[in-house]
Amino acid sequence: MTRDLGIRFSFGAAVARGASGAVEDFAACRARFREPLAEAARWIAENAAKGESGFGWYDLPEADTTRVRETADWLRSYDAIVHVGIGGSALGNLMLHQALLPMYLNEFSRPRFYLADNPDPDKARAIWSRVAGSRVALIGVSKSGSTAETMSQFLWFRSMMESVRGGPVDDDILVITDPKSGVFRAYATATGCRSLEIPPSVGGRFSVLSPCGLVTAGALGADIDGLLAGASAMKKFLVDSDPAELTENPALHLAALHRYHEKSGRPMAVMMPYANRLETFAEWFAQLWGESIGKDGMGTTPVRALGAIDQHSQVQLYTAGPDDKFYTLIDVTGRESEVELPRVSDASLASLSYLSGQKMGEMLRYEAKSTAAALIKAGRPVAWIELDRVDARTVGALVFFYEYVTALTGRLMGIDPFDQPGVEQGKKYTYGMMGREGYAADAAEAKTFFDGVTQ
Ligand code: PA5
Repeated sequence: MTRDLGIRFSFGAAVARGASGAVEDFAACRARFREPLAEAARWIAENAAKGESGFGWYDLPEADTTRVRETADWLRSYDAIVHVGIGGSALGNLMLHQALLPMYLNEFSRPRFYLADNPDPDKARAIWSRVAGSRVALIGVSKSGSTAETMSQFLWFRSMMESVRGGPVDDDILVITDPKSGVFRAYATATGCRSLEIPPSVGGRFSVLSPCGLVTAGALGADIDGLLAGASAMKKFLVDSDPAELTENPALHLAALHRYHEKSGRPMAVMMPYANRLETFAEWFAQLWGESIGKDGMGTTPVRALGAIDQHSQVQLYTAGPDDKFYTLIDVTGRESEVELPRVSDASLASLSYLSGQKMGEMLRYEAKSTAAALIKAGRPVAWIELDRVDARTVGALVFFYEYVTALTGRLMGIDPFDQPGVEQGKKYTYGMMGREGYAADAAEAKTFFDGVTQ
């Protein structure tokens, strides 16, 4: 059982019929999906074993991390790290750091970490102003080794570092990229700067357990052994479960539920953890899900929410707006810290006496249960995930779980979960507009379509 992994999945309320009603009974739907899902599980395992493109994430939990560790040791000698990367080359880092490292780490520990993802000059300059004058390591992360957002910032930060030193700074640079292709690989070969590889078979949004996500998390003190061990344990559990018994395998079950709700007129999938440590987990999931599943006019739109904050923002819509969403709530049963509320003695605060001696973390758990109850009362479908704690093992397990669910769901839909033609289209238009050789036709095409916007 996943209880041993520190995670429990409950799908007892995941098939609420709601106001619009489901188009068919989930039991019938599940029976219909049983063989396609078993086939999807075989498809993943067999293609991963063959090293096929896109399937490399499946074997990352067991990959050798010697070079990751050496590189993390090297990074620890710096005052600050500037990481340039976007999408799958950034979100996994944010997610791991938030989940596994002390909060507000930059305020009391070295190296400080800055992520330059969006190429917004305000942000780039603000980062530089924080690190200029200290020993800075620049990390460029890009699977393709060509993304304009990343390359532009890499060039700028490198030039700023050079202007301070008055010469080359290649010994302060690390690139994490494809072993053979792309500008970063060519740069590493030419300059001899440090480099690590994202395996060719691992796609950007599936790369968090590769050097892409592990190096900075490890350098800042996260337990990357525990992370990979948790992912590996989850993989073993899922792979060993009988694929014919959907209810025994939460990944197959959840993939079926997502597809069922999509077909039942619920085109959105809300992920709502009740833990600040998991806020960017929902962000990471949104990229993984959106880019993998949004194909051929199908897919469900991932919606990130955070409990309890979104109780005061979105839950009105969730309970009383359109019945067009499937909800996943994540509750955390044990936290590293707890806050006990003081006794109330002031007469003016007497109405707050119900809070006296209560625990804040427990209150947050009651809030998660309250939201689930309110959604269920309103006839909305809720999947409930409980984590014993947010630590390296449970986060590793949850990462692998969601990568697996995403791949299964894509296969069930009959699409390729590992490509991203829509992302590539935008990249080509940008290259064209920035005057990159070979992309003039893309610039012209973009202009044709964009002109319609301003007419
Ligand atoms: O999942 C993907 O492939 C994309 O979202 C990429 O992560 C993103 O576009 C960044 O690409 P790259 O890592 O090649 O710079």
